[in-house]
Amino acid sequence: MTRTSSAIPVAQRVGGFSYAIRNIVAEAQKIEAAGRKVRYLNIGDPIIFGFHTPPHMIEAVERAMRDGDNGYAPSVGILKAREAVTAECIQRGMPMTPDRVVVTSGTSEGIELALTALAGPGDEVLIPVPTYPLYTAVLAKIGATPVFYRTDEKRGWQPDVDHVRSLVTPATRALVVIDPNNPTGATYSGEARAALVDLANRHNFPLLADEVYADLAFNGPVPAIASLNQDAPVITFSSLSKAYLAPGWRSGWLAVGKTDRLDDVLAGIKKLADGRLCSTGPMEHALAAALTGDRSHQRSFRQALSERAAVTYEQLNAIDGITCARPNAAFYAMPRVELPQGKTDEDFVLGLLRTAAVLCVYGSGFATTPGDGYFRVVFLASPAELREIYTLIAEFTREFLNGRTG
Ligand SMILES: Cc1ncc(COP(=O)(O)O)c(C=O)c1O
Repeated sequence: MTRTSSAIPVAQRVGGFSYAIRNIVAEAQKIEAAGRKVRYLNIGDPIIFGFHTPPHMIEAVERAMRDGDNGYAPSVGILKAREAVTAECIQRGMPMTPDRVVVTSGTSEGIELALTALAGPGDEVLIPVPTYPLYTAVLAKIGATPVFYRTDEKRGWQPDVDHVRSLVTPATRALVVIDPNNPTGATYSGEARAALVDLANRHNFPLLADEVYADLAFNGPVPAIASLNQDAPVITFSSLSKAYLAPGWRSGWLAVGKTDRLDDVLAGIKKLADGRLCSTGPMEHALAAALTGDRSHQRSFRQALSERAAVTYEQLNAIDGITCARPNAAFYAMPRVELPQGKTDEDFVLGLLRTAAVLCVYGSGFATTPGDGYFRVVFLASPAELREIYTLIAEFTREFLNGRTG
């Protein structure tokens, strides 16, 4: 038998994507290993910051486990969960039936199933920039091409609908809309939403509506984008991760709009879902408990987020050289620092980490241009801690812009 010591190669596609939100943690761990406390503003996980999963959801999972619901679930998910998602869609203005719902391992798996069913090599998918990196990661895996459309910081990160329109080609397979948005914290205007859904309708490609933050707009839940045009081909995605405070459960759903134009796509998604067996069974029992049960935690969560957004907006804009659009939803802001010539967003973020032990994610991790100086802040920490952190960012920015560090 021949033995060699050369490394076993990985498939080429692995080189095709990176995940800045998690990559940068390795750098932070080095700082921690040197004995310093790092303030993590990189991951949108409310549990780490002391928010709690509602007890009635935990009870539903416990009960399911004790009742013996520990086997494989149907690959589309248990009927009770699909009925709850159906009722939720209808209440948000999107006509639905349980046979068009698939229970997934988070929004992430729903998006992966839909994109895999829709696009392959040579196909194009319209995604926003700044983007959520899951989209570029999945498109790299399936060999399809991301085509980035602008969202405009000066207009509170509204999508540039004319730009979207100009990017449509015969190879376009889907339009991704993330509203409310990560990483910008924006909610889109009714006008932009209607224009995007009409565009998808007219060109006959699906609008993939990432609505995982729909219940976390500070002014109250955002209706389904599908409600603006009930004939349009829309697939909606969401989960228990954010508005129901259970990200580790990996429990979510997709729901395919009620138009026969999407029937083949629905069949394709179900076929792919068969291939991965099912999502986590006991957690499916929490879906009905979450969607049909007490949601009072959402009111206080929105209030807590809105308070943190205000602190973020005020303190970041008070720093010389930093501007930040006001977030209207979720727990993200995308400030911009005026970089000195030749510096990148990564230089700023790594300098901030090494000097002040504050970890943000550089904008280019969300596909913005490195020289534009964007970075993302997750503002889930308490207002008092956020104030301390923004003071550290202010001190570092002063030094960085004076060329003393970074
Ligand atoms: C816009 C967006 N979509 C999808 C996801 C993934 O969520 P899930 O935990 O439901 O897979 C996230 C998570 O941060 C997100 O911000």
